[in-house]
Amino acid sequence: MLTRLSISSHEEVYRVDDAETGLRGFIALHSTRLGPAAGGLRMRVYDSDDAALEDVLNLSRGMSYKNAAAGLPLGGGKAVIVGDPAADKTPALLRAMGRAIDTLGGRYWTAEDMGMSPADMAEIARETRYVAGRDQGRHASGDPSPVTARGVAAAMRAGAARLWGSDDLSGRHVAVQGLGHVGWHLCRILHEAGARLSVADTDAARVATTAREFGAQTVAPDTIHAIEADILAPCAIGGVLNAETIPEIRARMICGAANNQLSTPQDADRLLTRGILYLPDYVANGGGIINVAAEILHIEDRAAWVSERLEAIRARMDDILTRAAGEAVSPNAIADRMVKEALLARAG
Ligand code: NAI
Repeated sequence: MLTRLSISSHEEVYRVDDAETGLRGFIALHSTRLGPAAGGLRMRVYDSDDAALEDVLNLSRGMSYKNAAAGLPLGGGKAVIVGDPAADKTPALLRAMGRAIDTLGGRYWTAEDMGMSPADMAEIARETRYVAGRDQGRHASGDPSPVTARGVAAAMRAGAARLWGSDDLSGRHVAVQGLGHVGWHLCRILHEAGARLSVADTDAARVATTAREFGAQTVAPDTIHAIEADILAPCAIGGVLNAETIPEIRARMICGAANNQLSTPQDADRLLTRGILYLPDYVANGGGIINVAAEILHIEDRAAWVSERLEAIRARMDDILTRAAGEAVSPNAIADRMVKEALLARAG
């Protein structure tokens, strides 16, 4: 079922084919230097198999960075299934993917990603034990979103301390883009911390509920990035920081949960030039993988372990911002360098 592909940037890459169930996909292990490669399983329609391969290669590399930045003993991996989750997903197909993952003997751990549900993960878990993010079981970690939101808030405090000399978020005006799993929890935490909220989502019902619950002001989704606010928190989709939006941003700081917020690497420098403090997304949103890691690593005292690591996110962000200020480069450049050093140090 697995065909190994030779791709020099990654440790192991496999094509997954199972004619009987119609399964087609890829599993990529970018690095196992810090520990077993961990990262979610995504199912979506791709224009071509090459596009799916490119996605899994990029995403698995991103997981190496995210896991290293979170200080976890985990490497980076990812898996994709080519197909429409609404039409093509069957229990047999998921179980075939489970068998493929099991063949790797724990070098790759999977979890939920786009197009997958906890029920799908349970189906996969019938074939392999290398599945995290489950709802049930001794070390089950469930929905990572509340922990992700706590990590984003912790990172935000590090940014606030640097910009305004205090990590107190009370009275700070935060523009939250996206009120889904993470965005809603972030609004809750910020509201409890006394922040003033402006919120936007393409789902009008979510906007109405969140605005009512937290006394937030509502803003159109296409203008939320440009409002006058202290902090912009992208919690919806990737690529929102780009050549068009960056000149319009009026917030002093950007810190949110969305993956791949920068449209291109140059956008980090565009933000630096504009004097906007951008907190690297893969550091700020590490809470989600920390939550999953507690399950993979069979941590018994999960609450304390997770809290310690969220504090570490804050300390790491503080360190990144201090070094970035000292060298007059973007925090993103520092974070990337720190991760590369961590990966190399372990390799040596
Ligand atoms: P979600 O799907 O629950 O929420 C996303 C929300 O954004 C939805 O309410 C959607 O209607 C809204 N949205 C979509 N396009 C929008 C637009 N153009 N403008 C405004 N709102 C828009 O997703 P979730 O789980 O809250 O994740 C949010 C982001 O954080 C994603 O980029 C995800 O990859 C990332 N992330 C999530 C983690 C988690 O623990 N759930 C962990 C790490 C990253």
